[in-house]
Amino acid sequence: MKKFLLLCATLLLSVAVASSQPLLTRDNIPEVVKAMTIQEKALLLVGIQMNKGGFAGKYLEGTGGATYPFEKYGIPSIVLMDGPVGIRLSEQNRTTCFPTGLLSASSWDKNMVYTLGEAIGEECLDMGCDVILGPGMNLLRNPLNGRNFEYFSEDPVLCGQIAAAFVNGVQSKGVGTSAKHFAANNQETNRLDCDSRVSERALRELYLKAFEICIRESDPWTVMSSYNYLNGEYTQESHWLLTEVLRHEWGWNGLVMTDWTGRRNTPRQIHAGSDLLMGGNPSQTAHILESLENGSLSMSDLDLAVTRVLELIVKTPAFRGNKPSLSPDLKAHAQTARDAASEGMVLLKNNGVLPVSGCRAALYGVYSYDLIQGGNGAALVYSPYVSQINDAFASAGFSIDAKLEKLYKSYASFISEDLLTNHKVNVHLGNAQKPELDIDKSLIENTEKNSDIAFITFGRVSGEARDRIHDTDFLLQQKEKALLENVCNIYHKAGKKVVVILNICGPIETASWKDLPDAILCAWLPGEEGGNAIADLVTGKKNPSGRLPMTFPVSYFDAAGSEDFPYDFVSNKANESVVHPERRGLPLKNIAFTDYTEGIYVGYRYFCTQNKPVSFPFGYGLSYTSFSYSKPMVKLKKGRVEASICVTNTGSVSGKEAVGLYIKAAPGSFSDKPDKELKAFAKTPELAPGQSYTLTMSFPLSDLSSYNDTKARWERAKGRYRVYFGADVLNPEAESGFNL
Ligand code: BGC
Repeated sequence: MKKFLLLCATLLLSVAVASSQPLLTRDNIPEVVKAMTIQEKALLLVGIQMNKGGFAGKYLEGTGGATYPFEKYGIPSIVLMDGPVGIRLSEQNRTTCFPTGLLSASSWDKNMVYTLGEAIGEECLDMGCDVILGPGMNLLRNPLNGRNFEYFSEDPVLCGQIAAAFVNGVQSKGVGTSAKHFAANNQETNRLDCDSRVSERALRELYLKAFEICIRESDPWTVMSSYNYLNGEYTQESHWLLTEVLRHEWGWNGLVMTDWTGRRNTPRQIHAGSDLLMGGNPSQTAHILESLENGSLSMSDLDLAVTRVLELIVKTPAFRGNKPSLSPDLKAHAQTARDAASEGMVLLKNNGVLPVSGCRAALYGVYSYDLIQGGNGAALVYSPYVSQINDAFASAGFSIDAKLEKLYKSYASFISEDLLTNHKVNVHLGNAQKPELDIDKSLIENTEKNSDIAFITFGRVSGEARDRIHDTDFLLQQKEKALLENVCNIYHKAGKKVVVILNICGPIETASWKDLPDAILCAWLPGEEGGNAIADLVTGKKNPSGRLPMTFPVSYFDAAGSEDFPYDFVSNKANESVVHPERRGLPLKNIAFTDYTEGIYVGYRYFCTQNKPVSFPFGYGLSYTSFSYSKPMVKLKKGRVEASICVTNTGSVSGKEAVGLYIKAAPGSFSDKPDKELKAFAKTPELAPGQSYTLTMSFPLSDLSSYNDTKARWERAKGRYRVYFGADVLNPEAESGFNL
C-alpha cells in the first residue's frame, strides 16, 4: 500500500511537470508506450476504483468499471458498463431494459438482433459508455445454469452468429463490446473457482466454436475471460486460451479484460494475454511493479498489454470526445424493445385458441401482474417501467377480471416486500422466486362464470452467482400444478379455453402438463415491453415466429451429463467458493470441479443421436400461418457450402419463417459424430399470404471438420453429406446433399 501511495504521489508530480509528452493518436501508439513510465503503465492495466480518491462522483452510479486517465498523453478514462440487455445503472428511469439473450436467440433473426445492438450502442453514446459488457455467450450446456437467460443457445452456430449480429449492431455506433465469458463458464455455483473439465474436442467444437464464429463474423473490440478454471488452469491465466487459440489460431487482435476478480496471479495473467485487469485493485498495480522488479513479468509482456489498451482507447467514444447527453431516446428504444420481444417469443402449443381478442379474460398467476423483465446480476437493468400483462391486455381490448386483478396485485406487492424484509433476498445476486398464491376452487368457478378465457402465467427468475435447482424450479411447484389443473378442469367443463404464458429464464419441465392447456406461449424474460409484446402476439397483431434455441427435455435427467451439474445444490451465499456445510466431507463433484462427461453431446446433439424423445425439440415453434419449402439448391464454391431455398407462406395471415440448415456428416466419417448439426440459419422477412422468399445461407467447409483429440488436429471426412432444411431439428421440410 505504501508503495502504491508513493506511486500516486510520483504520478501527480509527473502530471504537474508534464512537458513535451506525445499526445495519443491512432498512429503514434508505439511512441506513447515508449514515453510512459512503468508506473504509468502499471496503472493503465488495472481498472480504477471509481468511488475512491479523485474519482468519487465522476462516474454514474452502477458503472461497471473504468480505466485510469493520463491527461498529459491525452489518454481519457474509458468507461465499461453492464451489460448484454442494456445499460445497467443503480438508478432507475435512465436506460432501456431490452429483452434477454435467450429471447434474442429465439428470434433466429440476425437483422433484429443487429437493430437491438444499434439501440444499445446509441444508449451507450448517450450515457458515456465506451464498451458495453456483452454479449454473454456461454453455451447452454445445462438447462439450470443461473445465467442461461443472458446467453443464447445450446448450439455454437446459433450462439456465435446471434452474438456477432449484436456486436456488429453495437459497434456500428462506434461503441465497443465484450464477448463474455471466455470460456466454459457454464455454471454459477462456485463460479470463481470451479474447474470445468472438458475434452479438447468438446471445447473446440462447441464452447470455443461459439466465440470463434462471433470473432470471425464481427470482430468484437474486447473479450472478457471467465472466472472459472478450465482443465486445471484459471482461464485468466491461460496462455493457451488467451494467446495461442484466441490470437494466434483465430487471428484476433483485440483486448482481453478479465472478469471482475482481483484474485489471480498478476504476472501470469498478463503473460497469458489478459490486458486489462478488472474490476481493478490497487494491489494489482503494485504487484505489476514488483513482478517487473523480480523478473516474473517481462517488459515485453507489459508493453504488449499497454499497446492493446491504447489500441482500444483510440477507438472509443471518449477518445473521440463524445459528449454524453444523459438522456437516451427511451421512447424509440421502447419500441425497439417491444418489436424485438415479440420476434423471440415461442408459441409452443396452439389448438386454435390463439389469436384471440376483445373478450373477457381472467388472468391467473402472480406473474400476470408482476412480469419478470430480466434476470438478476450484471444483466439487470433498472428500467423506467415494466409493461404488465394485465395492463397490456386491457389496452389491447380484453376486459380483465377485476376481482382477480385486485387480489393478485395486492399479493404481488405483499410477497415482494416479504421476500426483501423477512427472507432477505438479495435481488441483485441470485434468485427471488415468488411463491404462487393458493387460489380456492370456488373462486375459480365464480371467476369462470364472468370470463370467456383464462390465462395463467408461470414465472422463473434466476441470476448471477447461483444456479437453478431441479425440484422446485425446473419442475412446476405444487401450487402451480394445482392452479393449472383446477383452472383447466373448470374452464374446459364450461367449454372455455386456457392459455399458459411462460415468463421463464430457461427451460422448465413441460412434458407432464403440456396436454392440459389449449395453448402455451413461451415469453422468456422479455424486457420492459414484455406485457405489450405478449399482447401483440396473443391478439394476432403480430404472428409468432420465435423458435427454441435449446431443447426442452422430457425429464431433466434424460440428457447426458445432467448429473454432472449442481442441480440439487442450494446455497444461501452468493459467490459460493467454500463447500456448503452439508457437503463437507463429500466429494466436491459439481462444486470444486465439473466433468463435462457428455463431451460433444450437448442438447439436441445428444437427443437426436440417441433418438430420445423430447418435450419440445431445438428449433421448435409454431406460427398462425403455414409455409412450404421449395427444392433446395446446395453447391460447393471457393471452400464454402452455399445453399438457397425458397419459402412460401401457404396460410391466410402474414408471417415469418426461420430456417435451419442441418448437416448429417458422411457415414463413417468420424467414429463419433452427432446425428445432425446446425451449420447455418436464416429468417424470411414478413411474407404476405401466398408470398415467397428465397433464403441464402453459406458456411466455410472447415465448419464440417471434427477435432481429433488424439492427433490434436481437425479432420474432415470424404463422402456424401446430407443437408436438411427446416425450423426444428426433428422435422426437416426439405433435403439435399453434396459430395466431398
Ligand atoms: C460478471 C460479469 C460482469 C462484471 C461487471 C461480473 O461479476 O460475471 O458478467 O460484466 O461482473 O459487472
